[in-house]
Parts: sequence; C-alpha cells; structure tokens
Amino acid sequence: MNQVTVHAPGTVANLVCGFDVLGMCLDKPYDIMDVRLLNAPGIIITSRDGFPLPTDPAQNTAGAPLLAMLEELGQPIGFEVIIDKKIKPGSGIGSSAASAAGAVVAANHLLGNIFTKEDLVRFALFGEKVASGVKHADNIAPCIYGGITLIRSIFPLDIVSIPAPPLHVTAVHPQIEVRTADARQILRKQVLLKDAIRQWGNIAGLVAGFMKNDYDLIGRSLEDVLIEPVRSMLIPGFDEVKTKCKAAGALGGGISGSGPSIFMLSKDAAAATEVEKVMQEVFTRIGIDHHTYVTTINQQGVKII
Ligand code: HSE
Repeated sequence: MNQVTVHAPGTVANLVCGFDVLGMCLDKPYDIMDVRLLNAPGIIITSRDGFPLPTDPAQNTAGAPLLAMLEELGQPIGFEVIIDKKIKPGSGIGSSAASAAGAVVAANHLLGNIFTKEDLVRFALFGEKVASGVKHADNIAPCIYGGITLIRSIFPLDIVSIPAPPLHVTAVHPQIEVRTADARQILRKQVLLKDAIRQWGNIAGLVAGFMKNDYDLIGRSLEDVLIEPVRSMLIPGFDEVKTKCKAAGALGGGISGSGPSIFMLSKDAAAATEVEKVMQEVFTRIGIDHHTYVTTINQQGVKII
C-alpha cells in the first residue's frame, strides 16, 4: 500500500478560558487528504479544490510537518499530498492544524505506524509555526487524539485526554478573515493577578465539569477574562450572539480559537439547533455572510478512510 485517504477534522482551540492549553475535536467540518508515498525525496503539495495553498513544502502547513518527519527518518523517500480544503484558512476552526495533523497521521500509516501520537503532534507543530509563527498544540492535539485534550506543556509535550459527557456544538463562521498571527499580536503580554486567578479557576472548573459530567459547572466555567475582551472587538456581533445563544439554551461558548468563528456548547441537539437559528439571525441582520455547523465531539480525530 502506498496511498491513503484521511479525513482531517476541524477543532475548537482554547475552549474559551484555556488559551493555548485546551482544545476539542469536531465531527464536522473536515478536510479530505490523499497522501502517497514516493520513492524519491521531496514533498509535493496539490490543492484538489483549487484553493490557493502554498506549494513550497516549507511554507505549507502540511508540508513543514512532513519535512520534519522525513528529516528524523533520514530515508530517501517523499510524499505527495492532495488536499481538498473544506475548512477555510483563517476561520478559527483549526484549518492549519487539520492539514498538519492529517498529513502526519496519513504518512505514519503509510510507514507502518512507526511513530507515536505524541511524535505526530511534535511534527505537526511545525505546521502551526508556519501558520501563526508559534508552536501551539491546542488544535493539533485534539485533531490527532480526538475528544477534548489538555496540553499541560509543549516543551516537553504533555498531553492529557479529558473525558466529557455528550455535548452538542454549534459554530458559526462569519466570512471575515482573522489571521491567528494578528489575533495573537494584539493580546496584552501581561495580566493582573486577580484576572489570572479568575482564569485558572475557570480552567479548573471546566476540566472538573467535563470529568464530573456537571453541565452547570461547564456552563459557569466558559468565561474568559483575558483574551475574549480583546479579540471580540475583531468580530462584529460577538456580544449579541453570545448573549442570545445563552438565552436560547446554550451552556456557554465564545470565540473558536483565534476567531472569527464563534462556538457554543449545548446539552442536547434541540438546543444546538435553536442556537444555530440565533447565530444565523444575528449575522443575517448585520449583513455578514456566514456558515453554521451543528455537530458533536469527534472522539477519534484524524480518520483513515
Ligand atoms: N490558541 C491559539 C490562539 C489557537 O488562540 O491563538 C489558534 O487557533
């Protein structure tokens, strides 16, 4: 076997309060990637849907991780990657991570699964470096492990899977682009101790809520006093969407990754559908094109087809 197809799913990084340390894998949307093992060194990147992806592997979020993998392998082989990009770059739903994670999981499969999941995260982080200038694993780790993950540390990597009760996810992608690099640039580099205390109380509360199946605690803990007040200014309608979604039955939510997508968690499918209507109503009224997704947590991560 020298070729494989994978589904590389979208992810929600941060989960509101856990900037750079928490992430969740989604059942949809997902990219579709075909990866072929080559007998000669090199990485070839092609876009199936015509989306203008960088073709220089070192500048491509799928290519850079594969280059790192090949360098560690030290063998004269290569990969061809054909990407059908369903998760739009700059959406905040883990587009760059899907390309990076999909590429390394597929390549590892073709190599006979010689690398661990942690190795794959290590390689895939090179893709995030290309995309945002920083190695953050809160999209990569859930994309590879599935479910909800805590990245306790990046150097050295320490990834913890967090069990959670059934949750329904509604996300809206308003068609404005927010580059992760820009959304990181605007953040304050220092925080007040009182804000830090509130934030780590929420992170601990959210993780405890997931592990104890305590929906009320999950809802109370979906609060971000550090990042959201700054980044939400880049997303028209954010405050209104959040307030109305909670009134419509969502447990809570906020900015997905670095935005502009907004996500909400709900206890049941009916609430998730009501939340979708609210999102559509607000963005239609303020005149911003948008896509919505109603989905659930993907427990598997990148899937070999
Ligand atoms: N944790 C990262 C950020 C995720 O918020 O900048 C980017 O998707």
